[in-house]
Amino acid sequence: MSSLPYSQSCENNRTAIAAVLERSFAQVRHVLEVGSGTGQHAVHFAKLLPHLIWQTSDQLDYHDGINAWIAAEPSTNLRAPLVLDVTKPWPITQFEPAVVDGIFSANTLHIMSKGMVEAFFAGIGKHLAKGGHFCVYGPFNYNGEYTSDSNRNFDQWLLQQNPQSAIRDIEWISELAATQGLELIEDHPMPANNRLLHFEKKR
Ligand SMILES: C[S@@+](CC[C@H](N)C(=O)[O-])C[C@H]1O[C@@H](n2cnc3c(N)ncnc32)[C@H](O)[C@@H]1O
Repeated sequence: MSSLPYSQSCENNRTAIAAVLERSFAQVRHVLEVGSGTGQHAVHFAKLLPHLIWQTSDQLDYHDGINAWIAAEPSTNLRAPLVLDVTKPWPITQFEPAVVDGIFSANTLHIMSKGMVEAFFAGIGKHLAKGGHFCVYGPFNYNGEYTSDSNRNFDQWLLQQNPQSAIRDIEWISELAATQGLELIEDHPMPANNRLLHFEKKR
């Protein structure tokens, strides 16, 4: 069996995220997670939220780790990862239903380039059912302003890793979302100066 990749931040933030998802995804049945990373969030949320089918996904490099976590902590409602790069056609027709009523993603929008974030929202517009919910967790700015010194330092570190990566403005994310019929209905403060944005697809 592959060794289990480990993210300390996933362990730190999973309880607070799950508490929000329990309410935001209360009416949801099929969740697609984009950028599952290590797979730690998926095994935790699938266990705590048994009314959901939790479909993991990520770029192929991450699949061994996600599969290892699923093998270590299986749940009947947890699905093996799809190969999903937001800039390519989403392989969503591989499972039933062909559209989902929930999409979740953590710590991805600041890693992706602006073009990738735009592609991400185009994919959400296409594959999230009307009335569906999109929840995205991570650090965000308001009108270009950092919410903390730690986020400012983190953004400088991100820039050094990849000039295309950056903490995104909630205003820009909300505008992109609106082009796909999504409305920001809740902006939850989270520990460690993060936010969880909850969008609903109105059309
Ligand atoms: C910082 S990790 C976050 C992983 C995990 N969600 C977490 O919270 O620990 C960023 C994730 O974004 C994913 N990602 C980056 N670019 C992507 C793309 N173009 N399409 C899909 N996922 C992408 C990476 O593969 C990685 O899993």
